[in-house]
Amino acid sequence: MQDQLSALLAKAGTELSALATRPEFEAAKARYVGPNGALTALMKQMGSVPKEQKPVVGKLVNEAKTQLQAQLDAALGRIEAAELAAQLGPAVDPTLPSPDRLPGTHHPLTLVREEMTRILRKVGFTVVEGPEVETEYYCFDALNTPADHPARDAQDTFYLPAAARVGNVSKKNPDEKYLLRTHTSSVQIRTMLKGEPPIRIVSPGRVYRRDTTDATHSANFHQLECLYVDKNVTVRDLKALLDYIFASLLGKDTKTRFRPHYFGYTEPSFEVDLSARHLPKVNKEWIEIGGCGMVDPVVFKDVGYDPEVWSGYAFGMGLERLAMLLYGIDDIRYFYQNDIRFLRQFA
Ligand code: DAH
Repeated sequence: MQDQLSALLAKAGTELSALATRPEFEAAKARYVGPNGALTALMKQMGSVPKEQKPVVGKLVNEAKTQLQAQLDAALGRIEAAELAAQLGPAVDPTLPSPDRLPGTHHPLTLVREEMTRILRKVGFTVVEGPEVETEYYCFDALNTPADHPARDAQDTFYLPAAARVGNVSKKNPDEKYLLRTHTSSVQIRTMLKGEPPIRIVSPGRVYRRDTTDATHSANFHQLECLYVDKNVTVRDLKALLDYIFASLLGKDTKTRFRPHYFGYTEPSFEVDLSARHLPKVNKEWIEIGGCGMVDPVVFKDVGYDPEVWSGYAFGMGLERLAMLLYGIDDIRYFYQNDIRFLRQFA
């Protein structure tokens, strides 16, 4: 009996280790432990074993059974692993860098935005954001821009259909229209209504205008807005900050100058020009870069600040214009085309 059992286990060992598929396995299993299997047949012989030998032979048979089961389990485990590997396809290491993709780069507008906010954070400004869908109040009324001002014209501003007001109707002014903000100056109002001075914020973001697209215009572009409110703020502080920002961003040879202008929310108001002839593709002496001024007392009153106590400056500028100067880009449309040959030039 012992010999028969060892022979059976040896045969099973070779046979089972050669199995490759599940049907083969099922057939082999039946040949050993099925109703007509080889081990089953040996176990049936137990009946004819003399009584006194039964404990010894029984033990041998049981051991053989356990061993065979272990061989079967091992064979099945191997077949299952092979099936799974076939489903998964060739082995890959997902942690390896992909051979056919270059790493991504930052968009030039992101680079300029990050650099500008970094420069401003250094001197105490905090980054805040505001919504792109605005009401007339934040975009115009609170900024002292009267209803008949040309900037509010439907030719210049994208107004949302009245249906967009559902659920958001202002109690004070149920006819108030929603629009895509035309400038980031709306964030000034949101910030002042939310808190008390001193305030020192920078707000970069996307703005929209009904402009026909060409090399220098786009219906949506990006601005960066700053507001500083404190006691005894002067035009000198404003000029000093702008000089600092542009020297930091574009190099210390950069000069700025103010030209008197009109904005409803600042008094006095200026347009800011840059002289940066050391930059690529800049061949003009002065380039207009944004608007600025001292916050108009009317705006302070409207948000509940006492204009006798508080003073402040504000400015806004286009991020595309800055990126074009910095990198020598001569067409604004490149920013939005997602042409990989363009984007890959920026780190
Ligand atoms: N909002 C102006 C524009 O879009 C830029 C501007 C001018 C922002 C004067 C200001 C400011 O904060 O004080 O052209």
